[in-house]
Amino acid sequence: MKRKYYLLGVPVVVAVAASFQLGSAPEPATQAPAVGAPIVTVQVPPLQGNAVIGQQIFAKRCSACHGENAAGKEGAGPPLIHVIYEPNHHADEAFQRAVAMGVRSHHWRFGDMPPVEGLTRGDVAMVTAYIRDVQRANGIQ
Ligand code: HEC
Repeated sequence: MKRKYYLLGVPVVVAVAASFQLGSAPEPATQAPAVGAPIVTVQVPPLQGNAVIGQQIFAKRCSACHGENAAGKEGAGPPLIHVIYEPNHHADEAFQRAVAMGVRSHHWRFGDMPPVEGLTRGDVAMVTAYIRDVQRANGIQ
């Protein structure tokens, strides 16, 4: 009899000890996202034609700040796969202007975007085609 009660008591003691441990554990510190981490999750659709070339140009000339697949980059630059940059709010011409003249910081806190040298309007149109395809695949249109 005695032995049976003892055994029943064991799980209770373990549970109480465990809950005490959980209760006394320090709150996890709120961690700042790591510099360089993507800011949004982006699905890349199958790309064709100019969008494929645009993707390559983007990777070379824009992703250092705007992140891989334009998902943004903590500490560097904003995602372009974002409702702020949907065509109604930032038409294709905004991409041409941004590259040719740079952007004064107004939506985010990453600082200004400098002009990007050495790209033609045609190059930027291909980058824009790429961004629009990826935006659409992520429900931004
Ligand atoms: C040195 C970093 C950097 C590079 C390189 C860069 N950008 Fe940007 N870009 C930024 C930042 C930062 C902003 C956000 C400014 C703000 O706060 O609104 C921005 C904003 C933009 C915008 C929004 C413009 C607007 O009217 O608000 C577009 C479009 C854009 N970038 C396209 C590009 C493209 C295309 C490339 C490559 C050809 C590129 N960027 C390269 C940093 C960069």
